[in-house]
Amino acid sequence: MKAITFSKHGGSEVLEYSEVDRPSPGVGEVLLKIHAVAINHGPDIETRRRGFGMGAIAMPHIGGVDPAGEIVELGAEVTEFALGDRVAVYPVIACGVCEFCSDEASENYCSNSVLYGVQTDGGRAEFAVAPASQLVRLPTTVSYEAAAALGVAYTTTWHGLMELGKLTADDTFLVVGAGGGCGVAAVQLAKIYGATVIAITGSEWKQEKVRELGADAVFSYRDKDWPDKVREFTGGRGVTIAFDNAGTETLPSSISCLARGGRLFCSGGTTGFEVSLDLRQLYRNLISLLFYVQGGKADMEKLVALVADGSLNPVIDRIYPLENAADADNHLDAQGQFGRVVLAVAGDVPAAGEYI
Ligand SMILES: NC(=O)c1ccc[n+]([C@@H]2O[C@H](COP(=O)([O-])OP(=O)(O)OC[C@H]3O[C@@H](n4cnc5c(N)ncnc54)[C@H](OP(=O)(O)O)[C@@H]3O)[C@@H](O)[C@H]2O)c1
Ligand SMILES: [Zn+2]
Repeated sequence: MKAITFSKHGGSEVLEYSEVDRPSPGVGEVLLKIHAVAINHGPDIETRRRGFGMGAIAMPHIGGVDPAGEIVELGAEVTEFALGDRVAVYPVIACGVCEFCSDEASENYCSNSVLYGVQTDGGRAEFAVAPASQLVRLPTTVSYEAAAALGVAYTTTWHGLMELGKLTADDTFLVVGAGGGCGVAAVQLAKIYGATVIAITGSEWKQEKVRELGADAVFSYRDKDWPDKVREFTGGRGVTIAFDNAGTETLPSSISCLARGGRLFCSGGTTGFEVSLDLRQLYRNLISLLFYVQGGKADMEKLVALVADGSLNPVIDRIYPLENAADADNHLDAQGQFGRVVLAVAGDVPAAGEYI
């Protein structure tokens, strides 16, 4: 079968479109014919560049954390799925025995979890094996491309916004980096649940796109006065909830936009991981900072249901054929995207680079 592999860390030039052996499903696993897999900065690009801080990975490595496809072979002891089932892979493989798993916390709390496609081979291939326990069923109304878009960016954003942030229609919600995969998801989900959304994005064309998604106010982070504009839009009060995965360059400003009693959720640092905070400003204003990683399988299942009933249409920026994975990585790396970038492995593939 064909797969995108790399045998050493480096730029996108280390990626090869290789012929490799088709894997066989072991006990409790299935073999998937992959249709689509999204690209994610950390698990795909950082892993390829220098590793993702999860230990050394076996080389050659096949990335791809959130593939979707159909089951073409069942391993021993798989009884809950059948050949031909349409599924997506939920990528956090929990240990099932740690104190968090024993307490039935969602998978992203597991202290020994393994990330599919980083610590195992993943879905940047024509076929991939996955544990049956990681599969999320896809109704026929959910395309493989939409499902692949959900696994990391939308699931992580859902967990922060709904499970931790507990967003309601009464909230005024600030989204920083609104043009990225998580940012677009945050704008869309908050509008579905009726909140007022203030979006911060870089370029003018992305500002227009975010407005089309329903954001109530849109400013650019290239304008250094953006926190003043956010406060002005809220009549001086500030926002009740904020999402900032942009990190060093924006997090202190995002916190400064919070109303008294406000909360901010964060699971990334695109521009860096270190910030300096004024603790007195935080405690005197009763600010809650909610840090977390990924989302749970139940979060992803809720998102699949929203797509299936037509409430949510994940924004897919471009679909590249599998063999053009290096171009797709570079496009994401240059922040040329609005929403998710997806590799299509089987079926109809739009011309490389075509905007859909
Ligand atoms: N911990 C987890 O479980 C988890 C899961 C998913 C993602 N993440 C992290 O979350 C972050 C976003 O992920 P993603 O998939 O959405 O990545 P992405 O699609 O590459 O989006 C990143 C966005 O960051 C914004 N950005 C870049 N420079 C900025 C600046 N100076 N000020 C403000 N915003 C800036 C850009 O927003 P505009 O396009 O609006 O200009 C860009 O689109 C990444 O750091 C990723 O590693 C973490
Ligand atoms: Zn565990």
